[in-house]
Amino acid sequence: LLPFEFKIFDLKSADDVYFAIRNMVVRGAPLIGVTAAFGIYLALVNPGKSKLSNEYILEVAKKLESARPTAVNLKYAIKRQMNAIKSNGSPNEKAQIALKTAGEMLREEREYCRQIGLHGLALIEKLYNKKSKKTVNILTHCNAGWLACIDYGTATAPIYFAHDKGINVHVWVDETRPRNQGARLTTWELDHQGVPYTLITDNAGGYLMQQGLVDLVIVGSDRTALTGNVVNKIGTYLKALAANDNNVPFYVALPESSIDWQLQNKLNQVQIERRSAEEIMFVEGSHENKIKKIRICPENARIANFGFDVTPARLITGLITDRGICKAKKEDILKLFPEYS
Ligand code: MRU
Repeated sequence: LLPFEFKIFDLKSADDVYFAIRNMVVRGAPLIGVTAAFGIYLALVNPGKSKLSNEYILEVAKKLESARPTAVNLKYAIKRQMNAIKSNGSPNEKAQIALKTAGEMLREEREYCRQIGLHGLALIEKLYNKKSKKTVNILTHCNAGWLACIDYGTATAPIYFAHDKGINVHVWVDETRPRNQGARLTTWELDHQGVPYTLITDNAGGYLMQQGLVDLVIVGSDRTALTGNVVNKIGTYLKALAANDNNVPFYVALPESSIDWQLQNKLNQVQIERRSAEEIMFVEGSHENKIKKIRICPENARIANFGFDVTPARLITGLITDRGICKAKKEDILKLFPEYS
């Protein structure tokens, strides 16, 4: 509903959680992971008409995992939650463990975002000094902010920290068709944080880079392969190509929960979510204070709605992780996360 309406939607059952993730009431990789972890807890305390059993919980886990296929956080969170409750215990004991585990994940994600913010801040500060304290122009795609993560956001955390420190930053916000997460959410967030921004069409980034108007690109990630390839919102790859052509540093900000430790080489190994034709056929906006949808193409238009793309590691200047900044390379990622070697 944002930015037109702000509403709190309470999730009271695992079905509510499935609905919220599937229909993007909650969205963004870290947030859907943590929400799903709470979904398992809700299944344990509120099974509704179903009989509470191990089979039922397994069914819920599978259903939640199927809600969105691309972000690895969802799989990671469900796996961790299911491992936590797998030992025998009463339903009540399991529910308490599930609640504790989900809470831990929530706190971890918040801390990951904060650490990403601190590491990314150093990067922005360096650029600011190099530019003799002239405004640093940062381009971002989609919404990898506090509406998508826990609190600070991933791509936005360095920006918020820089702004709070008095560094002049300005953000170019890609509108991010078809759901317009940039136009609707990132703008709303930046407004709340008091960070100057300009909304641009998805196609404008390349031109701005050619004009020297972008100092840095920071995007989020829904899944980063151990080899450094990054799956993120559709259109990210094109920004990386343009940045590469114009020598603009292209960084991806991500928590460790968005790294797919199993994913090695193949770019086409990840299931890229294809969403409904309706998201492209209609644009949603506000008219006379009412949210309205209008059709922008012929009723019988053939439509393909790909949710994500893969940016090859070679186009990425660096990964801003919760443990520091590294090259988008297996050896470098593993130096920061040696326990996965
Ligand atoms: O809105 P979604 O869930 O479809 O999009 C995911 C994202 O928000 C982005 O791809 C983002 O850059 C990575 S998640 C913080």
